[in-house]
Amino acid sequence: MSASEPRPRTLAPFGRRLAEVTANEGRGPYRLISALDRNGPDDPRPGQFYMLATAAGWGGVSGERPYLPRAFSFCRVRNGSDVRPTLDFLLEAIGPGTARLGAVEPGEEMWLTGPLGVGFTPPNGRPILVGGGIGVAPILCLHDELGTSVSVLLGFRSGAHAAVAALFPGEPAVVTDDGSVGRRALVTELLREELGAGDDATVYACGPPAMLEGVRAICAEREVPAQLALESGMACGFGACYGCVVPTRRGFLRLCVDGPVLDAADLESAIGPGAGH
Ligand SMILES: Cc1cc2nc3c(=O)[nH]c(=O)nc-3n(C[C@H](O)[C@H](O)[C@H](O)COP(=O)(O)OP(=O)(O)OC[C@H]3O[C@@H](n4cnc5c(N)ncnc54)[C@H](O)[C@@H]3O)c2cc1C
Ligand code: FES
Repeated sequence: MSASEPRPRTLAPFGRRLAEVTANEGRGPYRLISALDRNGPDDPRPGQFYMLATAAGWGGVSGERPYLPRAFSFCRVRNGSDVRPTLDFLLEAIGPGTARLGAVEPGEEMWLTGPLGVGFTPPNGRPILVGGGIGVAPILCLHDELGTSVSVLLGFRSGAHAAVAALFPGEPAVVTDDGSVGRRALVTELLREELGAGDDATVYACGPPAMLEGVRAICAEREVPAQLALESGMACGFGACYGCVVPTRRGFLRLCVDGPVLDAADLESAIGPGAGH
């Protein structure tokens, strides 16, 4: 497949703003955090992300981590009359930033910058949504946008992690590494079964690098377009630090302004410098 045309970049609202945490619930090993972004746009694109930091207890003394804000995809936006717009984030605690954010209390304030980056674009054919682990976050809001009739394929390490599948309306197909929920399989196996050769489908995926590389390779083989939400370490989130650069067929791109969603056709591999953890 040939490399795609660059997508227009996003103009995010200037500066950071305070959002009020309204809920923090456990979903298996993950935290589902809701924040009222009173002064933010109510229509972020699925696949876009926000830089988050707590207003209190974020670093504080010299050398204390976390110092920089951390990048998170929103997993849902809700626009009811009194909750407008409430953003939901799904977190996995893997270090100091995610541990602190995972411990926020309702009523606390969070610094938030965004929505940032380029999200998913509308499908050309039937959409197939593929999520792995914490990568289900942007897949959930895309599912909210596309409706329940789309195919959703989800893979998790264990049954405990698979608890977040309940956030998806309808009946997503779920597999786990240990077979405790659904079949013992990788989610890429479900995609192989779902996709026929030359299928009139558009595949959307987010998950660990090995999963994304599997999705990229399957879609290249079947000549099906795919949009992959990638990750890399991000220090600023808006194009200033060049910390998030990834190699593509279009040259080196900054994932925070040219992604995080890239066309699979632009990538030799989804594994490489900048690949998520
Ligand atoms: C666009 C984008 C969207 C994201 N969405 C989510 C989300 O919805 N939910 C979620 O839980 N996480 C998400 N992440 C990942 C999240 O930003 C990191 O887990 C977080 O920054 C880790 O911070 P920490 O202080 O907890 O851990 P750190 O101490 O900063 O990191 C712990 C370990 O993970 C590695 N690491 C951290 N972040 C990354 C990364 N992005 N890529 C590769 N390695 C990394 C570090 O090198 C270190 O080894 C997203 C990242 C990006 C770039
Ligand atoms: S995170 Fe700073 S340029 Fe992308």
